[in-house]
Amino acid sequence: MQYRALGKTGIRLSALGFGAMRLPIRGKESEIDESAAIGMMRYAFDQGVNYVDTAYVYHGGNSETVVGKALAGGYREKVSVATKLPLWSVNSLDDCERFLGEQLGRLATDHIDFYLLHCVQKKNWGKMQSLGVLEWAEKARAAGRIGHIGFSFHDTFEVFKEVVDDYDWEFCQLQYNYVNESVQAGTAGVQYAAGKGLGVIVMEPLFGGTLANPPAPIRKIWDSVSPQCDPVDTALQWLWNKPEVSLVLSGMSTLEQVRQNIASAGRCGVGSMRPQVLDVVARAQREYERLSPIPCTRCGYCMPCPHGVDIPVNFELYNNVSVFQGNSVGLCRNLYMMLPEGQRASACIDCGTCEEQCPQHIMVSDMLPKVAGAFK
Ligand SMILES: NC(=O)c1ccc[n+]([C@@H]2O[C@H](COP(=O)([O-])OP(=O)(O)OC[C@H]3O[C@@H](n4cnc5c(N)ncnc54)[C@H](OP(=O)(O)O)[C@@H]3O)[C@@H](O)[C@H]2O)c1
Repeated sequence: MQYRALGKTGIRLSALGFGAMRLPIRGKESEIDESAAIGMMRYAFDQGVNYVDTAYVYHGGNSETVVGKALAGGYREKVSVATKLPLWSVNSLDDCERFLGEQLGRLATDHIDFYLLHCVQKKNWGKMQSLGVLEWAEKARAAGRIGHIGFSFHDTFEVFKEVVDDYDWEFCQLQYNYVNESVQAGTAGVQYAAGKGLGVIVMEPLFGGTLANPPAPIRKIWDSVSPQCDPVDTALQWLWNKPEVSLVLSGMSTLEQVRQNIASAGRCGVGSMRPQVLDVVARAQREYERLSPIPCTRCGYCMPCPHGVDIPVNFELYNNVSVFQGNSVGLCRNLYMMLPEGQRASACIDCGTCEEQCPQHIMVSDMLPKVAGAFK
């Protein structure tokens, strides 16, 4: 296993981290196959993975408990655990206290090494600041109940920059992969955070698994290279190739995936990707764009919508569902529902202002009801 510094903390973490959001299940999402999940996590820990990421809500609240069990028997001393405060359920500092207490109990530990504000967005950031959540977290850190303070993020680069600038964060966790370079915080966010000394932890490196199953036109691109490139390994290497990336979290669902991704992490290196492979990734990126049903380039000329709809984000989610299908349907629906109601496609009143601005001449008012229908 290779290790990298987590930004200015200097802490050495394994290049691959274990994401405990997609553990093997027995039917229902909340019913984790405990023995398989614990076996997979311990296998990864034995191979040098020293970071596991969970959250209050994963697997209907059971992920933290199973991670706690996996860390028993001497693993807790070797592995850092990260979990998150569910901001959408926080209305007071008493709520913070209650969640942290419950999480320490579930994880069967007296401290959480990396504590994140879960899913910081424009709509909750101001509220968290006025409640004094960060001051509360600092007290918990001083008391040794949490180690390092960070946040996970799902909003635009502009909001990301504001959040990074508002506090002396130690690390952040971002959705990032080669088809999301200009999505959410994107490449600009990764560079901005790293430039300010934050450790950058990547989530959804395979876009929730969708990059592992490319549609036929993209598969053709991968097959055209010699020696052949594996889409999963290449997507992960593309991230590790970047000096800004501290750790890549993978939500692995089988032991075979754990084995493969550990082997990938063993081959990684900053700046080590061959130009020929980088070129294939760029071709795949372009093909994903081409396959998207709405020719939106996210230029933002249509914004601001006088009625508040976030047009580029709605189009991007719709495109992703069409191109990737499979896992991405649920993923994109969740992201759509995470948008404030007024920003969703369903808030369009067909005024047509945006259509005069769109350089791609997209019939925005015709498309937004389709988007709203797809995510109903
Ligand atoms: N804070 C937040 O808001 C937030 C949001 C999302 C994620 N996260 C964290 O970040 C972690 C990583 O994100 P993610 O789970 O979305 O990661 P991901 O790597 O984008 O997707 C995981 C899925 O990729 C597939 N996969 C993984 N390794 C593979 C391999 N070697 N070959 C083929 N398929 C493979 C599996 O899909 P199949 O099961 O279909 O095979 C797996 O369930 C999560 O587990 C969670 O801890 C946090």
